[in-house]
Amino acid sequence: MNNLLEKKILLIICGGISAYKSLELIRLLKKNGSEIKTILTKSAKEFVTPLSVASLSQEKVYDDLFNSDNESEMDHISLSRWADVILVAPTTANTISKLSTGVSDDLASTVILASNKDIFLTPAMNVRMWEHPSTKENLKKLKSYGYKLIGPEKGDMACGEFGEGKMTEPKEILKEIQIYFNNLDKNKSFKALVTAGPTNEYIDPVRFITNKSSGKQGYALAKSLAKKGFKTTLISGPTNLEIDNSINLISVETADEMFKATQNNLPVDVAIFSAAVADFKVKEKKKEKIKKKEYSNLELEKNRDILNYVSKHNSLRPKLVIGFAAETNNIQENAKRKLTEKNCDWIIANDVSNKLIGFDSDFNEVSIFYKKKEIKDEKLLMKKKSEISDEIIDRVIKQLN
Ligand code: PMT
Repeated sequence: MNNLLEKKILLIICGGISAYKSLELIRLLKKNGSEIKTILTKSAKEFVTPLSVASLSQEKVYDDLFNSDNESEMDHISLSRWADVILVAPTTANTISKLSTGVSDDLASTVILASNKDIFLTPAMNVRMWEHPSTKENLKKLKSYGYKLIGPEKGDMACGEFGEGKMTEPKEILKEIQIYFNNLDKNKSFKALVTAGPTNEYIDPVRFITNKSSGKQGYALAKSLAKKGFKTTLISGPTNLEIDNSINLISVETADEMFKATQNNLPVDVAIFSAAVADFKVKEKKKEKIKKKEYSNLELEKNRDILNYVSKHNSLRPKLVIGFAAETNNIQENAKRKLTEKNCDWIIANDVSNKLIGFDSDFNEVSIFYKKKEIKDEKLLMKKKSEISDEIIDRVIKQLN
């Protein structure tokens, strides 16, 4: 498995006794064809010299946030954009603590905070430090932010104690990075489409029918897909959210526009319908603003069901069609009915009567119902929408492969 050719790895070395292992790691990564840039924290320089790191990586070593030479050549934002992945090895308890609160007081922590890439942490510390509740709490937070962990391992420590906290061996770290790029490369052949947000159904030029969807769930799904290498199109109703350029964002306003945008972006391998599309539109939208005295009953007609159209399409049906179900009662029964009626492979139901989750919340709790009888239905307990999305996309990848 040599898939590291020309992969750009930013290696951040923190100050710990295992920093010497990062030299071997650089050697292995270089041998496998990757390009490496390195950042040394101030305390890392107490354990390894910039000269040895520069010799092995055959690149200049970055170490100072306030160095005008560095900043003009490659500033802290460019460094994080340059990388395909960031690897922090070793990661000290101090760095873990800083990252968990967003402290950015040196080049390493600033680059990490500014990064839009996956970040692997390889913790290395004394067993008591590793087991300390504050380290555990900080790591829990970092995991919820999407940081990935490699190790640590159990064994004899440099300080003479025994336990968990040893940095994973460079050979094993290399394997993890290879697996990561292998999966990413595989996923690059997949196309994904996500619908998100509400739709606005106009009554007259300034008034419309809409709902409370913020788009957060759909945007998080699109981000998780893109992060995993999928070519992702996000068709979004009006929201206040932003998304980075790696995602093809198509902004729409009405259900009709969302329907057309979806049609225009088929075929895909997986389509996820998280938008809260208005079921009805006004039969006759007034060209001018309706005056108070002109008000009468609004005549409504049904919008086209986008999910239904895609999932029943003869030739363009994606391999995997996933619908959402926003329910306030009889969740399982209603979700399963939608699974069958809308010909989905999965329906992901959320209880929108619970104000802590669902519409406009940063959190969600979902039940996944599968068409295939051999896959057991699942519940993902309350977490950030970004975490729920990562878990959903892990399942998507498993299914597509
Ligand atoms: O946007 P957030 O604030 O983050 O909130 C997320 C959410 C609660 C909106 C999301 O998690 C969710 O549940 N989305 C689906 C909402 C919904 O409209 O559910 P539904 O049960 O009415 O529709 C079932 C499915 O059909 C959905 O996948 C929906 O996108 C799709 N549909 C519905 C009507 C229509 N005309 N076209 C569709 O594609």
